[in-house]
Amino acid sequence: MLSYLQGVIVKKNDRKTSSTLKKADAIVSKYGGSRDSLISILQDVQSEYHYLPEEAIRHLAKRLDLPLIQVFGVATFFKAFSLTPRGEHIVSVCLGTACHVRGAPGVLDELERRLGIAAGQTTEDMKFTLETVNCLGACALGPIVVIDGEYFGQMTPGKVKGTLRKFRKASKGKSGKEREKITVGD
Ligand code: FES
Repeated sequence: MLSYLQGVIVKKNDRKTSSTLKKADAIVSKYGGSRDSLISILQDVQSEYHYLPEEAIRHLAKRLDLPLIQVFGVATFFKAFSLTPRGEHIVSVCLGTACHVRGAPGVLDELERRLGIAAGQTTEDMKFTLETVNCLGACALGPIVVIDGEYFGQMTPGKVKGTLRKFRKASKGKSGKEREKITVGD
């Protein structure tokens, strides 16, 4: 029974890997297989999976004929890339001094409570990753929470529920850049 289950898991993983490699191939083709597009290619892979799967990085190195260490180097250099699975929505709470004194810790507590995770973790359904950041340079609007690039100023614990609701419903695939703006007093 155990070996049967192990066989099923291996087959599932094989299918997943093959689909990841096919998607990576399609992204490489989109950029004409150009090594100069490595960062854009990694961005597209990350946007597809919300992180950079190891098998995709290894495959990209082969396809682009680049040393694996170089591709890993770029993937680990930029903070925007992640080598571990992240949620569909990235929630960042500013804990810089100005936001802290204006109540950011209370906002973070409420986010942790509503999402059922601690800062640095991802929800089981892979919908949300919760992070803390230092000053984002918009102190006058603090406390600030950024979700997928959208800034929410003057956040309070009471606004957390409604703000998260928007993103629970948000359509998958819409990039933060498309929605980038500052929202105050939501
Ligand atoms: S301390 Fe939060 S934006 Fe400056």
